Amino acid sequence: MNQDQLKQSVARAAIEYITPKLQADSILGVGTGSTANFFIDMLGELKDQFAGAVASSDASATRLKALGIEVLDLNSVGELVAYVDGADESNAQLALIKGGGAALTREKIVAAVAREFVCIADESKWVDVLGSFPLPVEVIPMARSYVARELVKLGGSPVYREGVVTDNGNVILDVHQLAIVDPKQLEADINQLTGVVASGLFARRGADVLLLGRAEGVETIY
Ligand code: 5RP
Repeated sequence: MNQDQLKQSVARAAIEYITPKLQADSILGVGTGSTANFFIDMLGELKDQFAGAVASSDASATRLKALGIEVLDLNSVGELVAYVDGADESNAQLALIKGGGAALTREKIVAAVAREFVCIADESKWVDVLGSFPLPVEVIPMARSYVARELVKLGGSPVYREGVVTDNGNVILDVHQLAIVDPKQLEADINQLTGVVASGLFARRGADVLLLGRAEGVETIY
């Protein structure tokens, strides 16, 4: 199986995983990226079985609406039955690096509200130690250089993602050369830097379940 086929297999597994949890008034959180896109496309089949979705990006909102799925503002929603999204890396504790698609802040907000975070990923995303994938950090534009200097003090090598503006109007620093042995501590250290909006480290609120696409089948990891 190629990578796209593995992504499709985990998207299908997520559909099967969430279907029994959906009720007529359920609102679902939906993520961003190519794996999430496969999931969104399959979600169209279930559109009469739940009330609507909250999207973690404008791109995903557009894709959901095109399928006739109602997209709601998170502020009008009390609870999300689940949040389904991809990841750039996952370790065995289901701490994640996310934000390759620059949607990390909204992803973090939607994940925080969801009762259950269902992560879907192909096996290339499974790692022993997080950090080979450069850690995205969303930053207020005027704080970019200051935050970059502070990230160097934390041991990283930040690179400005040129030409990218997030849905929130901010910029992204991709932090290379991190071997993230204590994800929760690093998440806290980056969060407290003035000018940081969010990091793509999902450790304090990691995934609750990972559906990992392997050539031999989808593995469910808690
Ligand atoms: C977007 C994300 C994505 O979930 C992550 O980049 C994985 O993307 P893909 O499914 O395309 O490999 O965090 O901000």
